[in-house]
Amino acid sequence: MSDLVIRPARPHGRLRPPPDKSVSHRAALLGAIASGTTTARKFLIAADTLSTVRCLRALGVEAALEGDTLTVRGRRIQGFLPPEGVLDVGNSGTTIRLLCGLLSQHPFEACLDGDDSIRRRPMDRVIRPLREMGAWFEARRDRFAPLRVRGGPLRPIRYLLPVASAQVKSAILLAGLAAEGKTTVIEPQTSRDHTERLLRAMGVPVEKDGQEVSVVGPAQPRAVDLTVPGDLSSAAFFLVAAAARPGSEVVIEDVGLNPTRTGILEVLTAMGAHLEITDLREEGGEPVGTVVVRGGELRGVEIRGEIIPRLIDEIPALAVAAAVAEGETVIRDAAELRVKESDRVRALVSNLRALGVQAEELPDGLRIRGGRIRGGVVHSFGDHRIAMAFAVAGLLSEEGTVVRDTACIATSFPEFERVLGSLCGT
Ligand code: S3P
Repeated sequence: MSDLVIRPARPHGRLRPPPDKSVSHRAALLGAIASGTTTARKFLIAADTLSTVRCLRALGVEAALEGDTLTVRGRRIQGFLPPEGVLDVGNSGTTIRLLCGLLSQHPFEACLDGDDSIRRRPMDRVIRPLREMGAWFEARRDRFAPLRVRGGPLRPIRYLLPVASAQVKSAILLAGLAAEGKTTVIEPQTSRDHTERLLRAMGVPVEKDGQEVSVVGPAQPRAVDLTVPGDLSSAAFFLVAAAARPGSEVVIEDVGLNPTRTGILEVLTAMGAHLEITDLREEGGEPVGTVVVRGGELRGVEIRGEIIPRLIDEIPALAVAAAVAEGETVIRDAAELRVKESDRVRALVSNLRALGVQAEELPDGLRIRGGRIRGGVVHSFGDHRIAMAFAVAGLLSEEGTVVRDTACIATSFPEFERVLGSLCGT
């Protein structure tokens, strides 16, 4: 088990974050059901996205990686082959849930499984609508992996999501490509829309009407050439590291700025950081630009409501910003945090307290009394974003942090330690 030892430091400089994880997964998965060969440049090479590639290969898809360029020979919708063994999704929720949607189109049985964290995460949220469409599922306690799925002829549905989830929305829309007629997902709040954007770029009309998103099947996506933008969720750790230190400046280049992902920029601005966006452009249907962040004296804020799905993965980083901000920060409406790679409410509160910060669990979020981070020893809880957030806490602390068990960082950001070192001059 590896540990990270982090000393207080003031980050400074420029970085290109790793390629976006959500967009990389989708490029591989949609490329696999397209007609023609899809090329995804700057594909994220990390444990989660490699899990997607591995599962697709087991389903008969030819996918080649040369450097960070992925080429996928599409097998068209309903074109996968029956897998020989269990499809191992590792730690990746996006892989298992989106594959449930695609496998629902296929008339063979497949088994999906993953690591201990995946086995604790709820899968009934995808099973329920996909069963309604006509797929067969069996799951441990009808809710958890390992899962068995057998697809078949699907009927379109109109489905109100009980919680905003891009993974569930995507699974239903992907299944809907093979159902005859209009499949509609109604979202309580807007979640990331990368699937919709990529489907449109692949020639599939996706209707959006208020909170409703629809596809009309059968629909066959066509292969595309795309470049994956940088991942704002990975950049978030450096955004916070710079934002919370007056005098710091970090320039983040070629980063995805899809409005369904940029809640963190709004919150850091409200907390008193100075952010500037330059060079804003569109690449492959996704907004991309440069973010310049200058540190300020941060103040606590309330984070709740509609913005939550637009910053859900950034809450670990924001909780660390809150720990050094003046006053109280309250995060509500975020019960989803409890079913991420770890129970992030518990992990955050336990680690913040270990560093001398007053923090309290709420059923659907947390309360943090900001001021200073003393320092100390914390745990990753096997969760990449918890590990990276508490590395940043070390930079902002008085005495530094030791983060235990950080191998999980390779899930999304294998180069994290090197980038951190280069920005902190170590
Ligand atoms: C993701 C959607 C979000 C997010 C996850 C990636 C995606 O999860 O937290 O890290 O790629 O669609 P939910 O769909 O569960 O909200």
